[in-house]
Amino acid sequence: MGRVVVILTTAAAVVACSVATVMVRRRVKRRRKWRKVVGLLKELEESFETPLGRLRQMVDAIAVEMQAGLVSEGGSKLKMLLTFVDDLPNGSERGTYYALHLGGSYFRIIRVHLGGQRSSLEVQDIERHSIPTSLLNSTSEVLFDFLASSLQRFIEKEGHESISSQDVKRELAFTFSFPVKQTSLSSGVLIKWTKGFAISEMAGEDIAECLQGAVDRRGLDIHVAALVNDTVGALSYGHYHDPDTIAAVVFGTGSNACYLERTDAIIKCQNPRTTSGSMVVNMEWGNFWSSRLPRTSYDIELDAESLNSNDMGFEKMIGGMYLGDIVRRVILRMSQESDIFGPISSILSTPFVLRTNSVSAMHEDDTPELHEVATILKHLGVSKVPLKVRKLVVKICDVVTRRAARLAAAGISGILKKLGRDGSVGEGRRRSSDKQMMRRTVVAVEGGLYSNYRMFREYMDEALRDILGEDVARQVVIKAMEDGSSIGSALLLASSHSVRTISNI
Ligand code: BGC
Repeated sequence: MGRVVVILTTAAAVVACSVATVMVRRRVKRRRKWRKVVGLLKELEESFETPLGRLRQMVDAIAVEMQAGLVSEGGSKLKMLLTFVDDLPNGSERGTYYALHLGGSYFRIIRVHLGGQRSSLEVQDIERHSIPTSLLNSTSEVLFDFLASSLQRFIEKEGHESISSQDVKRELAFTFSFPVKQTSLSSGVLIKWTKGFAISEMAGEDIAECLQGAVDRRGLDIHVAALVNDTVGALSYGHYHDPDTIAAVVFGTGSNACYLERTDAIIKCQNPRTTSGSMVVNMEWGNFWSSRLPRTSYDIELDAESLNSNDMGFEKMIGGMYLGDIVRRVILRMSQESDIFGPISSILSTPFVLRTNSVSAMHEDDTPELHEVATILKHLGVSKVPLKVRKLVVKICDVVTRRAARLAAAGISGILKKLGRDGSVGEGRRRSSDKQMMRRTVVAVEGGLYSNYRMFREYMDEALRDILGEDVARQVVIKAMEDGSSIGSALLLASSHSVRTISNI
């Protein structure tokens, strides 16, 4: 009996020992994997770092590239496109105008009525729709017929009110959020598609003519009278409300900026024919490139697999279309190199499956258990990950978004530097804190990435203060707008009409 007990006890001890060994081994293995993940995270943080010194170098590089792009066509990756907009709206405009805005993910149609005073601006109707993905690689006819039919529905809704009762054509501004080489305020040819659009054989086509053709085919009483980049629309709207607005930036699906430049600085344009002595320049900053940009293996892969590789390098680091995909790539790599996310999810391998609005939802998840993160991961085919893994995902979102926001701040500071509004007193001289030197400067900002993503905003504002210094940053007002690009394009059209009307008298 005693022997049996001894044998059983020994056997139990052996089993317990083996179980313990297995458990210890597992724990060691888990720890090793976790250490690996921590190593990957550290690597990620280092490669995405944007220290102040580097940001300042970028500010200088942007100002230099802007200058180069103004001197000669093709002188810089920054296209610095002429817009033929020399007078910005000031509040005195009158009449009823329309705008159709084709953005990256949405299109909008609006009708505004202007009564000759800022306070009388009335947005009478506005429609927002997401762009069907099938349009992105359709044909020119399909795209423009789609836009014209949407316009037709919008106008039919008007009934007999508004302008239709008058015996005049409706005047429409086409807000077109893609790079265009303008030949006048109302015409211009597409340079290339961005943001996932890939309609072939459209580069070189006159965009306003394409829309006018589709509108005419439907017999609509509409005159496409202005072709406006979204940044320029945003600047017009900003300036209408606040004349200190001298630049506008879009942080949406894509990213871009425009600003008011002295015509004598636009050396590549011999005869800018402006009365105001200045012209709005569409920078197309999404294409900015500098060796100082913190480019990582994730950016290189994303670019290589994109529809427009070797193009729009800056946009691919800061645009809403891309941030989600960078985060997805990081999570995928971590799940390939360790099993902390469980078996590798095939959904996670799908490009663009993680959208930036999900990144912001995860980043700003303030539930103790990070429920939002768990839900979004589940949609990506990753379920039941422990809290520490969910925290890791939040950290990844933070690293990617912080870099984007800081680069965006460097972009804005680059424009301010070019305009001598960054508080620095000339080349190589000390930064001045003399408030006398600084004029109030307003930068209009539009786009969902800025308005819907608090952490992006906070990081950008913080970086602006870091780069410019508190005193200068206080003089720089970042004004967020909603639908400013569309409304502003209509205002611009109205103001070009009032100029024409006056000069015709
Ligand atoms: C386009 C710009 C546009 C920006 C923001 C970029 O992809 O090239 O023209 O202003 O997106 O919509």
